[in-house]
Parts: sequence; structure tokens; C-alpha cells
Amino acid sequence: MARLAFALPHNLESVLVDDARDHGHDVVARCASAGELASMLDPSSAEFVVVSSAERYLTARLLTEADRAGVRVVAINDTDAGRRNAITVGLHEVVEDGATWPVIEAVLLANPLKASAPLAPAGDRGRVIAVWGPAGSPGRTSLAINIAAELASAGHTVALADVDTYSGSVAPTLGLLDEAPGFAAACRLAGTGSLTQLELERIAQRYVSSHGSFWVLTGIGRPSRWPELSASRVEGALELCREWVDYTVVDTGFNLENDEEISSDMFAPRRNAATIEALRAADQVVAVGSADPVGLSRFLRAHVDLLETIVTERVVVVMNRLRAAVVGASPARQVAQSLERFGGIVAPVMIPHDQAAFDAAVLEGATLYDVAVKSPARAAITTLVNERILPPGAAKRARRGRPRRAKAQPTPI
Ligand SMILES: Nc1ncnc2c1ncn2[C@@H]1O[C@H](COP(=O)(O)OP(=O)(O)OP(=O)(O)O)[C@@H](O)[C@H]1O
Ligand SMILES: [Mg+2]
Repeated sequence: MARLAFALPHNLESVLVDDARDHGHDVVARCASAGELASMLDPSSAEFVVVSSAERYLTARLLTEADRAGVRVVAINDTDAGRRNAITVGLHEVVEDGATWPVIEAVLLANPLKASAPLAPAGDRGRVIAVWGPAGSPGRTSLAINIAAELASAGHTVALADVDTYSGSVAPTLGLLDEAPGFAAACRLAGTGSLTQLELERIAQRYVSSHGSFWVLTGIGRPSRWPELSASRVEGALELCREWVDYTVVDTGFNLENDEEISSDMFAPRRNAATIEALRAADQVVAVGSADPVGLSRFLRAHVDLLETIVTERVVVVMNRLRAAVVGASPARQVAQSLERFGGIVAPVMIPHDQAAFDAAVLEGATLYDVAVKSPARAAITTLVNERILPPGAAKRARRGRPRRAKAQPTPI
């Protein structure tokens, strides 16, 4: 049994205080702010404190007082502003909102394997990763969701935006409401110059996971709403996203046809503008094709159009649903050879066909990390993120965690 103090907003406090008591701990204080908590800390009061990472509850002064009193602090990341605050004040013992009590306890005991240590932001401006692929459902949405999840699990702030003007399906795949499409709202506000980080947090939904939560800007449920996603609005919305989060993962449509060629009206809205603009704005494009004969031929033809839109250096080619049943023996080698021979594409990433894992994910409205952590498809996506999207060395840093602040050793709870 340990003595614990809390400084949390009401919704978190009511859950976690009960959890702590259920696990046999003594709750000695429930404070309304970091200042109140800091002023009561001494070695005879609390041994451990649990706070929200928001500025109201977590300050540099609180950490100084906690260090002085030899009290260990863990923060709950309940907003992205809070996540940034934890990085600013130098607290690395953080867990995501929704973490269970045993996870929080593991962090309090400084078990580095369980701690989700935040990384430094990926540079001053966030990066945009667009996931694109030809017609035929090669797995753009599945890949975008799971890339976002892996980036979040590595400690980055992440937003997943559905920019598909034909068949946006991020919301239903994750079991989120899509009555008020978040990305269209962001575009509308960007169009009037009133999009801010606060507005983004208001219109986005949160996919909550103890492995790493992320924001979701849902797509247009009715395809007829596509005129809301004009090129300039998409550009403006993605610019703001760069200031908001470390990584914005964009699920795009398949069609790269430039409607200017079929319309004489230069100012008419263009259905493919959102996808084309997202690809042009992206720092990196994950181009996904289906690893079967039909999918390959579709991919190779569309890849030519992709390279007319953006430069090759920014493209990572991914072949999804790889299986011997439709390609023959040694499917990875055969698919790689076809890509090189007919498209000059080298070093593609292969993701195996993994029906059980993706069915479980769709059934639960969850990421592979949350429902099929050991699945081969998830392993391939983790490798894709670590080796082709995160900067070199970042994945290793994330696994080891960042150096911890020196503080007195706590007695085990
Ligand atoms: N590696 C895989 N193994 C098995 N099933 C997969 C795999 N990747 C995706 N799927 C499944 O394939 C289906 C289509 O995937 P997804 O919706 O991601 O494709 P898409 O390219 O976004 O399609 P759309 O054209 O509808 O936007 C989904 O049911 C998904 O669960
Ligand atoms: Mg899709």
C-alpha cells in the first residue's frame, strides 16, 4: 500500500481515485491545481502523485517540489497541449489517457518497459505522410490507420485525416461517428482563415489507446460533399496540422486525373484536387498496391501518374495482402521482380495477407496494435514505420525511452 496524491480534472479523478483505492492504496490528497499540490508535498505526505499533463496540473515548480520531497510523479496525457506541456517541463513519466491502473503503477515504479516515453517533436514543423493507392481497395485506409497507431505508440503526437473524396471510411473502420466530418470542418475554417490548434482539437475525435492515442479528422460520409475539399482549403488545413502534431497521416482517394483537362471552367471545383493537393503537400507518400496480378498491373499503371504528380524520392512503395495463393511460390521475390522489371521500383515493403488480424480490427473498430499485436501484418507495418518513416535511430530511442530525471528512489508500492 502506498500514499498517493492526485491533481486531475474531475472526470479523470473520479475514475483513478477509485482505481487506486481498489488496488489497496491510501489517497491522501485530491488537489485542484499544481500549485495546491506543490504546497502540500513533503516526505511524510504522499509518496507518489498522479496529475494531468495539462498546465493547470503540471508545472516546473511542482516537479521541483516533488524532487525535493522525493516524490515520484506520473502525468496522464489527456490533451495534446498537455503532452507538449509534459515535454516542456521535462517529465518523461507519462501515460496516455485511458491507461489502466496497472500501467500507471508500472510507470510510477519506473518500469521502462511499460512507460510510454514521449519523444522530442519530429522537428519544428510536423510532417505529413500521405497514403495513396490505385482503385480496387488495396488497403489505403487500413495502412493509414495502422501507420498512425505505430507513430503514436512511438511517443509522437499524431493526427489521422480522411481526405478520400470517393469512399472515406476511416470513421466506420475505427467505429467513430462521422455525422460531422472533421476534415471538411477543418477545410471550411481554413478557407476563412479561422482554423487554429484549439479548433482542430474541438472538431477532431480521439482514438484512445493505452499504447498511444491519436486524433482523427473524419472524412465526408456522403461523397457528394467533395466540393468542400478544395485544393487551397486542403493545403491550409494541412499547414495547420503541421503546427498541431508531429505527424499527420492522410488517407487519400485513388484518382489522380486532373479534372482541368475535362472541364473548360478553370474555376470549377475539382473532385481529385484534395488527393492531388495532399500528395503535393506530403513530405512522404506511402503508395500501396495489392500484391496480386490484377492489383500489380493497376498499381504499375497508376504509379506512372503518381510520378507525374510528385517526385520519386518521396515515395515508399508498399505491396499489401501478399500471399502465395495468387502469385505462386516465393511471392515476395516474384512481386519485387515484377515491380522492378515493369516499373523500375526497388525496395518495396511487403505486408502479408492477414485476414484474421484485419477482421478482428474491423470487428472491434481498433488498430492492429490494440487487437492483434503479434500479427504478421502488424509486424510488417511496425518495420515500415521504423525503417522508412521515422528518422534513423528514432525507433531505437523510442524503445529504450528517454533519460529520466534524477530523483529519489521510491519504495515499491
Ligand atoms: N494485409 C491485409 N490482409 C487482409 N486483409 C486486409 C489487408 N489489408 C487490408 N485488408 C482488408 O481489405 C479491405 C479493404 O481495405 P481498405 O478499406 O483499407 O482499402 P482502401 O484502399 O482504403 O479501399 P477504399 O477504396 O474503400 O478506400 C478491408 O476489409 C481490410 O480489412
Ligand atoms: Mg479507404
